[in-house]
Amino acid sequence: MLAGREEILGDFEVALEEGLGSPGRAALFTGLRGSGKTVLLNALEGRAHERGWAVISVTTRPGVAGEIAQTQIPALLAQHHPGGATESVVTGGNASVAGFGGGLTREQRDRFPVEASLRSGLTALADVMAARDAGVLITVDELGTDGARDLQEITQVVQHCFREGREVAFVAAGLPSQVSPLLSAPGTTFLRRAEQAHLGQVSDADVAAAIRGPIVHGAKTIPDEALRAAARATQGYPFMVQLVGYHSWRAARGVDTVTAEHVEEGVQAAARRVGRLVHEPALSELSGIDRSFLTAMARDEGPSRVRDVADRLGVGGSYASVYRARLINAEMIYAPGWGVVDFTLPSMREYLREHAVTELAMDTPRPRLAASEETERRHDWPSPTPGQPPPDPYQ
Ligand SMILES: Nc1ncnc2c1ncn2[C@@H]1O[C@H](COP(=O)(O)OP(=O)(O)OP(=O)(O)O)[C@@H](O)[C@H]1O
Ligand SMILES: [Mg+2]
Repeated sequence: MLAGREEILGDFEVALEEGLGSPGRAALFTGLRGSGKTVLLNALEGRAHERGWAVISVTTRPGVAGEIAQTQIPALLAQHHPGGATESVVTGGNASVAGFGGGLTREQRDRFPVEASLRSGLTALADVMAARDAGVLITVDELGTDGARDLQEITQVVQHCFREGREVAFVAAGLPSQVSPLLSAPGTTFLRRAEQAHLGQVSDADVAAAIRGPIVHGAKTIPDEALRAAARATQGYPFMVQLVGYHSWRAARGVDTVTAEHVEEGVQAAARRVGRLVHEPALSELSGIDRSFLTAMARDEGPSRVRDVADRLGVGGSYASVYRARLINAEMIYAPGWGVVDFTLPSMREYLREHAVTELAMDTPRPRLAASEETERRHDWPSPTPGQPPPDPYQ
C-alpha cells in the first residue's frame, strides 16, 4: 500500500481521462532515495494498464531512446495491433527485428524494420492504441545527466505527439540533485513545463492508514496507541513506512494483535535496514571530513547552526561553508534557514549517534560477513573493546 500518494494517482487518472491537453499528461517527480519514486511510477503504470493503455517503461541511460524504438515499440505494436506482428505499420529499413524472436518470415521481418525512428514508431503505436480508445504512457526513471541526450530525443518525440493531438502521456522521476542540472540545461523546456512534484514526507495520518490497511487486510488488529507509535517512528519517510509495517507484522507472527512491543521490535529492525541500505552507502561515498561534519551536526536535537558545527570541528567559517555546500549538493543536508542546516533524512541523526561514524572507523576495511550475518548485521565498524567505554564519536 502506498502511503500518501492517492492524490497523485487520482490526478493522473484524471489526466488520462481528460484527454488531450491535460497538463497532468507530462509529469516530473523528484525525491530522495527511498522516497518512493520507482514504486510511484509502477503504480501510475498500473493505472494506465487498467485503462488499456500501452506502457513503455525505461530507466535513463545512453542508448535508451534507440532501445524504445527498436525493441519496446515493435513488441507493443505486435501485441496491440489487430493484425499482430505481420501488419505493416512502420516503414523503412530492413534489418532483423530485435525482441521479436526468430520465428518470423523474411517478408514479415521486412514489414517491421528495426531502423524505425522513435517518432514514427510512437506515432504508429499511438494510432493503434487510439483505435482502442487508449493511449501510450512513457515512464522514465532515474533521470540524470548521463542519458540527457536520449531524454531530449524522447521528450521531443512526445512533444510532437502532443502537438499532433495523439494520446500520449509522459512521467519521469529522479533524485533532485540529478534533475536540477537537467532542468537548467538547454533543450529541456518540455521537462521544465511538466507538472512537477516533490515526494517529501508523508503525513502521520497517511502513514497510519498505510500501516493499518495491510494489517487489517491480513486479519489482525493494531491498537491505536501502537499504530501511533509505528507512524511516529517512520518520521514520514516512505521507505521506513514499508519497513516498519513489515517488521511489526513479522514480530507479531502467530498472534492476532500487533502490540506496542511488536511495533518496538519492528521499528528497531526497520531502522537497522534503513541504516544498512540507505545511510551506510550514502556515508561511505563521502570524505572523512564530510562525515565528521555530519557527526558534529548529530549532537543537536534539531537543525544545527553552521557556526556551532565549525566550532565543534575546530575549523573556520569559510572552511565549514565549503563542506556545508558539498553536503547540500550530496542531498545529505539542507538549509532550512540562514546559517542553519538539518539532515534531509531525519533518521540520519540517530544513525550517526548510534554508529560513531568517525573518519577512522569508516576508512577501516570491511570484514567479509557470512550471508546470514549480512541480512541482520547492525553495522560493521569496529565495536568497542570489551570492558572499555565505547569510542566518543565527537572527539
Ligand atoms: N508511499 C509509500 N508508502 C509505503 N511504502 C513506500 C512508499 N514509497 C516507497 N515505499 C517503499 O519504500 C521502498 C523504496 O521505494 P522506491 O524504491 O520507490 O524509492 P526510490 O525513490 O525509487 O529510491 P531510489 O532513489 O533509491 O531509486 C520500497 O520498498 C517501497 O515499497
Ligand atoms: Mg528508484
